[in-house]
Amino acid sequence: MALSLSRRSDRITQAEIRVMTIECEKVGGINLAQGVCDTQAPLPVRRGAQAAIDAGVNSYTRFDGLAELRRAIAAKLRDYNGINADPETEITVSAGSTGAFYCACLALLDPGDEVILFEPYYGYHLNTIEAVGAAGAYVRTHPPDWTFDPHELQRAITPRTKGIMVNTPANPSGKVFTREEMEIIGEAARRHDLFIFTDEIYEYFVYDGRQHISPASLPGLADRTITISGFSKSYSITGWRVGYSAAEQRWAEVIGQMNDLVYVCAPAPLQAGVARGVGGLDRSYYERLLAEYGGKRERICRALEAAGLPPSVPQGAYYVLADVSRLPGTTGKDRAMFLLRETGVAGVPGEAFYHDGAGDSLIRFCFAKADAELDEACRRLARLP
Ligand SMILES: Cc1ncc(COP(=O)(O)O)c(C=O)c1O
Repeated sequence: MALSLSRRSDRITQAEIRVMTIECEKVGGINLAQGVCDTQAPLPVRRGAQAAIDAGVNSYTRFDGLAELRRAIAAKLRDYNGINADPETEITVSAGSTGAFYCACLALLDPGDEVILFEPYYGYHLNTIEAVGAAGAYVRTHPPDWTFDPHELQRAITPRTKGIMVNTPANPSGKVFTREEMEIIGEAARRHDLFIFTDEIYEYFVYDGRQHISPASLPGLADRTITISGFSKSYSITGWRVGYSAAEQRWAEVIGQMNDLVYVCAPAPLQAGVARGVGGLDRSYYERLLAEYGGKRERICRALEAAGLPPSVPQGAYYVLADVSRLPGTTGKDRAMFLLRETGVAGVPGEAFYHDGAGDSLIRFCFAKADAELDEACRRLARLP
């Protein structure tokens, strides 16, 4: 047998985000391609982690996380999401929400299974599904509100379908799924006996008074829903790698075993820091966060509009898709490279979020940036011919 890569590795494409980041670095540009928030982590979270390190919290935690963090997450799930999860048996703290989703896929998907994704989708979701040998199926969402046709959802379901992936608020569209939409998805999941995987990492970034709806909080969906979230975004700690999944015990047990196998546990002292945040930060923290990002959203949307790149104003999360069809080129990549050359501002070509080359008139910009950098990006956009 010759040396070769696994067949699985063929399927995993290098994220376009990374490609644009490299291009951006080459020209010393402003990177609005990547979702890296450079704001400070909340004080109790930092102090909590520092104290844990000083106190010698250096060992493995239980495979599903520190008890104090699981308990804090259970209380937060109850109060913010309307979900009842037993911290002893139904919550798995993992290496970020990325790790939590990977473990859920390992536990629940077989090669050949299909999972429905709403397009435009977050590339890691598809790559993770494919990494375990399963495949994506697609339901298109349409601007301005990124709505979907329920018939299209029905048509996407085949005998191989094992789950529906929801991301609310969504990356890259910013869509916040409404209760009615969740009910349509829930009804399809019940009728065809499907899992709902829901990535709610942006759950605190919901603008204009909209409400974040967790599918597991809807009647009759808790037993088939795997709720995934984490703290990278709301505490600006993307590098700490702390997230979690919540699911009924029969699923959580195996998700936890997979977490043990792949990661053993999430970083112990960082879990302790996060527990201080989840347990201690009150509503005003999340309100301030929302106000701050709402301001950034306005700034970037205004600049895009003025530059003749009409934004689809996001309902949530911290990305904006802009219509860049006036820029020269035939693909989103051409247009993103043109924009980078002309202004030094990097975004992600729209094709990265579609399975079939659609999205060629879109670029995604991330506005989770310090104000000075975001303002500089806006000034540069204004120079676009
Ligand atoms: C939709 C979505 N899920 C998950 C993540 C990653 O989260 P974590 O750092 O918790 O793995 C991102 C980061 O960009 C994201 O956009």
